Amino acid sequence: MNSAKGHSDRHNVVIIGGGIIGLSVGWQLLRRGAPVTLCERETAGRGASWVAAGMLAPHSEVGFEEEDFLKIGMESLSQFPQFLDELDEDSGQRIELDDRGTLIVGFHRDDTERIRRLYEFREHLGLPVTWLPGSAGRDIEPLLSPKITAAIWLPDDSQVNNRELMDALKTAFVKRGGVLKENTPAVSIVLRNGEVAGVATKNEDIDAAAVVIAAGCWSNCIDGIPDDIRPPVRPVKGQIVTLRMDTDYELGHVVRAPDVYLLPKDDGRLLVGATQEEMGFDVTPTAGPVMRLLERGWEAIPSIYDLAIEGIEVGLRPGSRDHEPLVGPSGIEGLFYATGHYRHGILLAPATAYGLVDMILEGTRPGLLEPFHPSRFSRSKRTR
Ligand code: GLY
Repeated sequence: MNSAKGHSDRHNVVIIGGGIIGLSVGWQLLRRGAPVTLCERETAGRGASWVAAGMLAPHSEVGFEEEDFLKIGMESLSQFPQFLDELDEDSGQRIELDDRGTLIVGFHRDDTERIRRLYEFREHLGLPVTWLPGSAGRDIEPLLSPKITAAIWLPDDSQVNNRELMDALKTAFVKRGGVLKENTPAVSIVLRNGEVAGVATKNEDIDAAAVVIAAGCWSNCIDGIPDDIRPPVRPVKGQIVTLRMDTDYELGHVVRAPDVYLLPKDDGRLLVGATQEEMGFDVTPTAGPVMRLLERGWEAIPSIYDLAIEGIEVGLRPGSRDHEPLVGPSGIEGLFYATGHYRHGILLAPATAYGLVDMILEGTRPGLLEPFHPSRFSRSKRTR
């Protein structure tokens, strides 16, 4: 590597990607004394992590056969208070958890049977969950439609203002001495003698003892990664509508209904999301999917009909082949992945950051992250 071209530090860790995962890992590395440079292709914190809804909802999001996700999701949620305390310490910005709980509602008979299966699975897992027959869900959330036929109440799911979180992370990263290079896409990782030696950008090469690819849906687009260990991550388009709640409009809970969720935020936004579309890197808002979201939202909470539309935004989730993250060693000495978090980047930030920092600095293999080892996709089954 031509270190004369740019910044040179053999202890440096270079993070590729300034979303929730890249900033969290970088900031936690700095807290543990490692020098960090972060390369972000555009503006840090303004990609998918900004468009996200900020739900911290392992109990409602867990799918059948996703018990590894549930385990890491619950652990990560339990790490949030420590994560936010540390963030307050380093950024001076206090981010609060909003733990008002989630209702999953159904209409018609097939919905009711569908959510009954969700309920029984959660009961089987020992999660706190209540079955509310008929319209009993309206006792908890009076704005629900009288047409609901059943609901599940999940009191322990939370949410956070992800935009405040991103701003605080960026501040904390810089205040802790991180070098933040925005509008700096990583073109290639640089290998020397089969080990990672740095990252090449358009303007310079940056030496590194370790590199973390946390580039979300672009993680697959960086040159220099051998084909057999290239992370199989693709963009999954999510369109989300922001409505503005009047001051006397009181939706008190997160509501999930077929193909839609409604998240009231404490700053008066009501998020109605989100589509899941295989449209490559297209970020155009489109009428049909948005119409459907609003229709589904209106079926669940009819009074949204009169709320003002504040905006329609599009984010690109990083989805791997099994929709679970890749966190850990890539198979090349010094090259780590922290990508593929799909719908769960905000929730999994603390567990990813704490666990990966231990791996990088101490060479440990935290058990919680073992199911998400990148080698599950590697054709050559490299394990480093
Ligand atoms: N985490 C919600 C979503 O991806 O839409």
